[in-house]
Amino acid sequence: MRIFEPFRIKSVEPIRSTTREERLEILKQAHWNLFRIPADRIIVDLLTDSGTGAMSSHQWAAMMSGDESYAGATSWFRFRDTVKELTGFKHVIPTHQGRAAERILFSSLGVKDRIVVNNTHFDTTRANIEYLGGTALDIPIPEALQPSDTHPFKGNIDLGALERVLRDDGDRVACVMITVTNNSGGGQPASMENLRAASAICRDRGVPFYLDACRFAENAYFVKLREPGFGDRTVESIANEMFALADGATFSAKKDGLANIGGFLGSHDDRLAQQEENLLILTEGFPTYGGLAGRDLDAIAVGLREVLDEDYLRYRLASTRYLGEGLVEAGMPIVQPPGGHAIYIDGGTLLNHIPARELPAQALGCAFYLEGGIRGVEIGSLMFGGVDPVTQVERAPPLELLRLALPRRVYTKSHIDYVLDVAADVIAAKDQLRGLRIVEEPLQLRHFTAKLAPL
Ligand code: F0G
Repeated sequence: MRIFEPFRIKSVEPIRSTTREERLEILKQAHWNLFRIPADRIIVDLLTDSGTGAMSSHQWAAMMSGDESYAGATSWFRFRDTVKELTGFKHVIPTHQGRAAERILFSSLGVKDRIVVNNTHFDTTRANIEYLGGTALDIPIPEALQPSDTHPFKGNIDLGALERVLRDDGDRVACVMITVTNNSGGGQPASMENLRAASAICRDRGVPFYLDACRFAENAYFVKLREPGFGDRTVESIANEMFALADGATFSAKKDGLANIGGFLGSHDDRLAQQEENLLILTEGFPTYGGLAGRDLDAIAVGLREVLDEDYLRYRLASTRYLGEGLVEAGMPIVQPPGGHAIYIDGGTLLNHIPARELPAQALGCAFYLEGGIRGVEIGSLMFGGVDPVTQVERAPPLELLRLALPRRVYTKSHIDYVLDVAADVIAAKDQLRGLRIVEEPLQLRHFTAKLAPL
């Protein structure tokens, strides 16, 4: 497969090598939790695509025009105008990252004893809702739960289930969201047809419809490539149309903002926006900077334009597909088809000798680190298991996945080839891999800090 990286590299960061022996010691010290490993002990870091991208020379140049005034900085107006042009939202509230937008939205909507419906909530989104006493309900289409199914829009929300929830429990639904692309579900896109239908159902019922828009550009490019009628449209116009269907959006600029920090909360609702702004001032900052430096606002304003470039998006999706196809060739089952920002290895199937409670995908993640210093993230029982704070029932997530997420514009095809070599070593060792047990865990978001031990 040909991948053309549409950039030259002007500034580089060294990657330090480690031996297998050193890595075993590092894993022990990190209590088999990859979040606990210092970044300079990682060879290829695929933990996340969030905030880990490389900025362009235009973005760095824009940072020099950052206006650090407390109120009414020119950076803010450049940021606001770019976001408004892209999304059409009447109100734009800058936030330091996506989860701040989530917390402010859910606090202002009031989710206590209410339900938020989503194709699939990401971990912080779910945690913010539950922390405020609400219920996070996932209703992806059934195909989304079949890793080998190659449905082109596995990020779609189940429209029948959505209609049922709104009919039976509509008064309790605080809002409906669609996460584009569906991160926890494999980085899969939602189709415009699905977004239109969900938007119409919500409008009929008078329930706000939101996008969790972190990866809106990747989603828009998938729509262009896969959905009939969109092949000749610009990605920008597709993105505009996606946002136009929504009453609001939460956004982490650490993904398709091509920035290292930042986010926003957008809406058309005057009263809600007023409440949100008050909360923003209380905990994040004045509404013209929202916890960000002026230079960050400028980097995002430029990033939001660059991310719509089709040469970039072509390279982006080709890189991810190349990783996915290589892993399959090495013998790893993955969530099909390859997603936008990451490949999700089906660790439950690959290591079917390790039961879910012994965290097969985490064991697989540790094996990737041990064999080659590669860091991924478990999206399975470690991340989403544990006791439900509302029902007190032990949760059982449907899949045990290891996500290898590609930072934007950071690694080349050679780095991906290295990952594929390591994958072959992991496959060779797979029958000897054993599960893990949790030794220590916090109440919320346990995967970040839990301590584990091999069985
Ligand atoms: N929504 C989705 C779909 C996300 O993927 C993330 C973050 C957030 C919200 C929260 O944004 O990190 O800026 O506060 N996802 C990262 C990841 C952390 O690794 O997938 P944030």
